[in-house]
Amino acid sequence: MNLEILNMEVVRALYIVSAVLFILTLGGLSNQETSRKGNLYGISAMLIAVIATFLGPQVSSNYGLLIILILLGGSIGLVLSKRVQMTEMPELVAILHSLVGMAAVLVGLVNFINPTQDYIGVEKTIHSIEIYIGIFIGMVTFSGSVIAFGKLSGKLSGNPLMLPAKHYLNLIMVLAIIYFGHGFVSSANIESAYLPLAIMLTISFFFGIHLVASIGGADMPVVVSMLNSYSGWAASATGFMLSNDLLIVVGALVGSSGAILSYIMCRAMNRSFISVIAGGFGTESTTVATANTDQGEVQAIDIDEFKNMITSSKKIAIIPGYGMAVAQAQFVVNEIINILKTKDIEVIFVIHPVAGRMPGHMNVLLAEAQIPYDIVYEMEEVNDDFDNIDLSIVIGANDIVNPSALEDPNSPIAGMPVIECWRGTYTVVMKRGMSTGYAGVENPLFFKDNTRMLFGDAKESLSQVLTLNN
Ligand code: TAP
Repeated sequence: MNLEILNMEVVRALYIVSAVLFILTLGGLSNQETSRKGNLYGISAMLIAVIATFLGPQVSSNYGLLIILILLGGSIGLVLSKRVQMTEMPELVAILHSLVGMAAVLVGLVNFINPTQDYIGVEKTIHSIEIYIGIFIGMVTFSGSVIAFGKLSGKLSGNPLMLPAKHYLNLIMVLAIIYFGHGFVSSANIESAYLPLAIMLTISFFFGIHLVASIGGADMPVVVSMLNSYSGWAASATGFMLSNDLLIVVGALVGSSGAILSYIMCRAMNRSFISVIAGGFGTESTTVATANTDQGEVQAIDIDEFKNMITSSKKIAIIPGYGMAVAQAQFVVNEIINILKTKDIEVIFVIHPVAGRMPGHMNVLLAEAQIPYDIVYEMEEVNDDFDNIDLSIVIGANDIVNPSALEDPNSPIAGMPVIECWRGTYTVVMKRGMSTGYAGVENPLFFKDNTRMLFGDAKESLSQVLTLNN
């Protein structure tokens, strides 16, 4: 066996080990208790993949350049991960997805102009299709992720873009992409393929923008997971172009897990999966947020009243939302539940699947504060049990506890399942003022007879509750 063949065999074996580790990563990350292990699997898998790439046949020189680029990219990633606040994670993820998309576009273009690849017949057709689809998915992922970044960071309006006949517009763009795809694949030489490719690149760019811009408000979680999925398919398409099995497998893993996540998000939002993929779904029927309608008076309380309510309760449900992440109140919450344990007060956490700004956001916060997993429940596990709950403490949550989702068919969040805390004895909502949540919808919960408002930064208010022991 000569050295080259031996090298290929080693690379193939490393690919298999890496692919298996990536699968174990997904398994590990699906549960808080095993998520650290999952992360370690992921790091090892990536390391092995990089080593395999170094040994692979496509890299025979220019190791120096590769090392420089890895160090450069790695350092940027390290600085970003150290600097980014937990509340900025969703937009960071969105912008990173855009890089995956751009990488797929660039690899596609390089493959297209690569003079050493002179396929003929069926092989040429297949290769051209791979390039065309790869560039298409990459460009949609790129432009869509940039718009998602803008929306999540508040640089662009969170409202859905409502162009007239938007679904027809999408359909026309898809048909045009297919039409020019035919022109690209059947072009006799590289020169005649330039024009259809350039037109497709331009259309896909606008297609990605339109797909994501059409979705807005409380439906954004689906966009986040959908782009996650697209970035996986973009990586997979890159794998096909480079004939890299590992990239195909890993891309498919990310693509399909992102698709499953989108499906779960759709179920959580009570939206149809198919219409999400078509971009902008159910938005026609929604009206502008019902802000500023007169709903009566809110009943504000102070810390002492809040402490009394806590100590006279037997069972408390804590409902965390985006505001808890902003206030970084999770650590104080952990200290409080430890005090409540000594007073024989039962505490549970109720998590809404789209609370916060990214999938699993609340679970990450609670894990960070080392809150035990066995007292953390999903929304559906508790919704029928609020009769037994004396006090619900809503920490910086708003849309996820909004009764209008169930009661007002014209609400922009109509149909979205919410945590029905108002069915318990009392609810205390901790927030700084009366502003709306992400969806921009007024919340009737704040005006209910059994709701009390505790105004102020969640961490500051909770820190004062810590004196419960005294
Ligand atoms: P939101 O509805 O966004 O409400 C958060 C509330 O926190 C705000 O009303 C705000 O009120 C309060 N707040 C902010 N900073 C605070 C602080 N320092 N102390 C106390 N309160 C503070 O959050 P939610 O209930 O978690 O719902 C999530 C929303 O985001 C949903 O509409 C969801 O669709 C959307 N979304 C979710 C995702 C994912 S994947 N989870 C992605 C994108 C969008 P004040 O300003 O009055 O304090």
